[in-house]
Amino acid sequence: MSVVDGTKSAGYDYGTEGVARSPVSLEELRELETAAGLGDEERRYLRLAGEVLADQAEAMVDAWRARMGAQEQLAKWFYGPDGKPDERYKAAIKPRFVRWVIDLCTRPFDQAWLDYQEEIGRRHAPDGKNATDEAQTPPLVPLRYVLAFSAIVVTSAREFLARKGHSTEDVERMHAAWTKAVMLTITLWARPYAKEGLW
Ligand code: HEM
Repeated sequence: MSVVDGTKSAGYDYGTEGVARSPVSLEELRELETAAGLGDEERRYLRLAGEVLADQAEAMVDAWRARMGAQEQLAKWFYGPDGKPDERYKAAIKPRFVRWVIDLCTRPFDQAWLDYQEEIGRRHAPDGKNATDEAQTPPLVPLRYVLAFSAIVVTSAREFLARKGHSTEDVERMHAAWTKAVMLTITLWARPYAKEGLW
């Protein structure tokens, strides 16, 4: 079990009525899964990854956030009106970020999952940033940084996946499944940024 469970954290609205229905249909989601090469075998290795990462998710998020904090062009999206990091905001987001690691590996890609991907996309975009935590940081994380940072989220997972004594082949398969699932996720998060008809 992760130190931070996250399901009870403020603003974690997965599966609740507070989350609007995604404009993406389940049929479109299945098409995207197929496009990303996410099939039954990947789902099995993703579940295994969920077991391997369960007690490491917080350390992963800490590593990612340290990287973000060390780069001004990434850190500034967490700054309050005083030009300094909004620590209350950062602390509120963290358990939801940790929970995301586990959700990605363990939740079925059903309507509730689809709806929450739209919600997380909105929370990075002008539609929804700051609203959950009543923060006054900049109104969006520009899409280009979310896309570029996904390279880190994908590659850095490998060393965590290798830490529990699995064979190299299993680690490779878990990593491939993680990569596909992250790319599917980021694809869905990009939707609120796209002009109508262009996504
Ligand atoms: C692949 C890349 C990324 C992943 C996987 C990711 C993941 C997440 C998750 C899971 C949350 C919380 C969602 C929830 O409320 O349940 C979140 C929120 C947030 N992320 Fe990201 N993120 C990524 C890229 C970035 C980048 C590059 C930045 C800025 C440099 C950023 C800044 C934020 C901020 C400011 C929030 C809070 C938004 C709000 O609700 O006001 N994220 N992120």
